[in-house]
Amino acid sequence: MAHLFNRNVLLGVSGGIAAYKSAELVRQLQGRGASVRVIMTLGAREFITPLTLQALSGHPVHTQLLDTDAEQGMGHIELARWADLLLVAPATADLIARLSAGRADDLLTTAALATTAPLMLAPAMNQQMWQDPATIANITQLSARGAHIVGPAVGQQACGDVGPGRMEEPPVIADAAASLFESGLLAGKRVIITAGPTREALDPVRYISNHSSGKMGYALAQAAVDAGAITTLVSGPVNLAPPKHVQCLPVQSATEMLEKCLALLPECDIFIACAAVADYRPATIEQQKIKKGPEQVILQLARNPDIVAAVAASENSPFTVGFAAETNDVLSYARDKMQGKGLDMIVANDVSDLSIGFNSDHNEATVLWRDGEQVLARSGKSAIARQIVELIGAINKVGKCV
Ligand code: C5P
Repeated sequence: MAHLFNRNVLLGVSGGIAAYKSAELVRQLQGRGASVRVIMTLGAREFITPLTLQALSGHPVHTQLLDTDAEQGMGHIELARWADLLLVAPATADLIARLSAGRADDLLTTAALATTAPLMLAPAMNQQMWQDPATIANITQLSARGAHIVGPAVGQQACGDVGPGRMEEPPVIADAAASLFESGLLAGKRVIITAGPTREALDPVRYISNHSSGKMGYALAQAAVDAGAITTLVSGPVNLAPPKHVQCLPVQSATEMLEKCLALLPECDIFIACAAVADYRPATIEQQKIKKGPEQVILQLARNPDIVAAVAASENSPFTVGFAAETNDVLSYARDKMQGKGLDMIVANDVSDLSIGFNSDHNEATVLWRDGEQVLARSGKSAIARQIVELIGAINKVGKCV
């Protein structure tokens, strides 16, 4: 079924009697996974109160173009940028005319001009108004500019007329909105991804770490979001911005990463361990900066917990995917690692090839699971991430390893 996970729907409500159905539409959109924010025109507020739509959407309703308070929060440009879809329901004859003319005389029409998101309209008006040549011309013009029109339905109208002009029912509109987006393989699945290096403190100013850039983990997060997953990144320190719709929880050390992951586990369907976790940490963290002294010092290190193994061994463990960076006998070491750590799948890399891996934008890998494997030919980390997510979607469906 089409869905709206990871989609931001900006719902514009204009002033027609069908505005009462917008409340149900908010619910229908949310039920398909969307985040919804609402703009109401002045006319809409004569039919339904902003409070109703605020309570249902969970966000303040936007009503004014020139409102300093609102602009301090999410102004019209931010709203326009936030939207993945601008859905106007009901769209009255007047609003359709103003959109067609490209006017910007209130918040809704201004947002429509300012957004690059697709526009969908659910017209609602008296049947004669719908069939008027002016409305027909406006709708034709908007359609030609790429607007998607849902309905109107034919039937009994509030004014007593019978004919075309009733707003489509909310489930039909929400389905039409969802059909604009690709249906994801991981729709609604809760995915946790570890990424980046860990930093193991020696004293207040020094640490042990590695060169992991986090690029592969962040690319996986983007691919998971695109596949419709509710995605959380547990990330060591990196210089990357988390993808839109990803909850990013920054951590420093392996111990902190383990704690965060275990706390999140009850809400996790798929766990992907992409982080380059330090195997060891200083056995003690000095409270004061260590002073320069002898020619040689011996550092005592303690083994870090194995995060992915702990996740795989947990009760009701999620589908668990690890990475194996090897320099020789890559596939046999990777398969041993998958079995040793109790994983459902492992992505094996040959890190003796310096043109792929750690800081590179490229990668090539072989994905192994209980009874299969697939080679992913060299390409950008985004393309590799998409293929890994596709395999996770396919294998996870077949079933976890036991
Ligand atoms: O044992 P090795 O470090 O080669 O295993 C790599 C895999 O295990 C990766 O998926 C990595 O994220 C994960 N790992 C972990 N916790 C550790 C060490 C590795 O989750 N302490």
